[in-house]
Amino acid sequence: MSADDKKKAAAAAALDYVEAGLVIGVGTGSTANHFIDLLAKIKSRLDGAVASSKSTEVRLKQAGIPVLDLNGVGTLPLYVDGADEATRHRHLIKGGGGALTREKIVAAASEKFVCIADDSKLVGRLGAFPLPIEVIPMARSYVARRLVSLGGQPKLRDGFTTDNGNIILDVQNLDILNPVELEGELDHIAGVVANGLFARRPADVLLLGTDSGVTKL
Ligand code: 5RP
Repeated sequence: MSADDKKKAAAAAALDYVEAGLVIGVGTGSTANHFIDLLAKIKSRLDGAVASSKSTEVRLKQAGIPVLDLNGVGTLPLYVDGADEATRHRHLIKGGGGALTREKIVAAASEKFVCIADDSKLVGRLGAFPLPIEVIPMARSYVARRLVSLGGQPKLRDGFTTDNGNIILDVQNLDILNPVELEGELDHIAGVVANGLFARRPADVLLLGTDSGVTKL
C-alpha cells in the first residue's frame, strides 16, 4: 500500500469521531486534505469547521463546508490533523506545511485531538525531521543564535511566509530527549511565535495507516 493510501485510510478512520451537529477543527497538509475530501461526503452532519490555515480554509469552502472563526465558537469538541513525526506517547513534530502556530492554537482549543498519519511518521524519538519554528522576522538572527547555543542547526525556510506574516526556521540536530521541556524552553526565546513540538498538548488519539489496516495508539 502506498503512503498516500495509508494517509487516506487514517483519514477515513477519523470520520468515526465526527458526531452529528459538531463544529470541528481541521488541520493542514496532505493527510488533512484527504480528511476534508471525506468530510465533504458527510457535510450535512457538520455545523461547520475551524481551519488551521488559509489553504485549509479554501479547501473546506470548496468542499461546501462552512468555515467559522475560532473566536465565535468556543471550545471545539474535536480537532483532526496530520503530523511530520509521532511517538507512541503521541508527542508530535508538526509544521512541515508551515501552519504550526494556528494548528497549535486549534489543538489547544479542542477537547480531543485525533492525529492521522501513515506509519512512516511513527518514530522512537522525535528529531530526525527538522523542527519548524515560526519566528517574527526581525528576531531571525537572534533566535538562530539561541538555537545554535542549544546545539541546533537552524535553516531559514527559503521564500516562505506563514499565514501570520512570519518566517520559519527549520532546526536540525536538536536533542529532543524531553519534548515537553524543550517545547517550553523554545517558546521562551523572544521572537519565537511557536515551535513545532506538540508535547505539552499531545494528540489524544493517533491513527496510523499501515499495510494491514489502521492502528490506533
Ligand atoms: C502542516 C503540518 C502537517 O500536519 C504535517 O506537515 C504533515 O503533513 P502531511 O499530512 O502532508 O504528511 O504540520 O503544518
